[in-house]
Amino acid sequence: MGARVLDGNKIRDQIKAELAGQIRDLKAAGVTPGLAAVLVGENPASQIYVRSKVKTTEALGLYSEKIEWPATTSTEQLLDLIARLNAREEIDGILVQLPLPPQVDAKRVLEAIDPGKDVDGLHPVNIGNLVSGRPGLVPCTPAGIIEILVRSSIPINGARAVVVGRSDMVGKPVAILLLHNHATVTICHSKTRDLAAVAREGDILVAAMGKAASVTGEFIKPGATVIDVGINRLTTPEEVRRIFHDPAGPLGELEAKGSVLVGDVQPEDVREKAGAYTPVPGGVGPLTIAMLMANTVKAARLRRGTRASAGSRS
Ligand code: GUN
Repeated sequence: MGARVLDGNKIRDQIKAELAGQIRDLKAAGVTPGLAAVLVGENPASQIYVRSKVKTTEALGLYSEKIEWPATTSTEQLLDLIARLNAREEIDGILVQLPLPPQVDAKRVLEAIDPGKDVDGLHPVNIGNLVSGRPGLVPCTPAGIIEILVRSSIPINGARAVVVGRSDMVGKPVAILLLHNHATVTICHSKTRDLAAVAREGDILVAAMGKAASVTGEFIKPGATVIDVGINRLTTPEEVRRIFHDPAGPLGELEAKGSVLVGDVQPEDVREKAGAYTPVPGGVGPLTIAMLMANTVKAARLRRGTRASAGSRS
């Protein structure tokens, strides 16, 4: 029997259906949660992500505002924008798409967001709330990973969980969430000695280092649950041949579409060795936007004094 595929699109649809009910109730009480998405510059991946976030916000019947500014925008201009969004009653969530252009002090901008409107969960106040187990807004991708595990009945309590990657946006917060769910957690990274041997201890292995197909079979404990956070676009036949053992299918895809998406996990190895895994695309990715929607609804409830219940397993 092959490994079980953890279908992120299906779980996203479940969450969106639950949110739709909550949004209906909020609207009946006169509250329409609002999200402002800020995009600076012309990074093509960021443009796709923001378009998708705005589309989902509108489809759920939330108030949506897209603010697009040129790549030459200064830190001061963004701080001024954030101050105005912080002050607006109808805006519950503020999302500043990353990365910001190099002349912008991204930390200062993120720290200027009202923590109650920080739907990305990246403000130091929300990080502090997360670490100390207080209610708050939790980063979207880590929250989505927990939703996938819980809704797929993968046991976390008592499991050995290994997180490869230590970013502020994914590696560190997902490790904290797994810990709060009673896993025994190891965080490792590119400097870890014998990385494969450490990864192989994980009943749950989270790959979040941003390097195409670098988690190979030797990293995976047989039967483990493997969560692949990576999104990497291969654009040359050489890359495809280097990564795939059997490149015929992906080479055809490259020819037809101009690129092939792979995660941080080698896709053939994971099918062979894992017990369950998230595919790329269609695994973790869809959950990130679903949890952004959940955080926007949660922010609206918290700010406007109705009880929070959406998408919180922290
Ligand atoms: N860039 C890549 N992923 C994300 C995300 O989840 N939020 C924001 N704001 N920017 C990103």
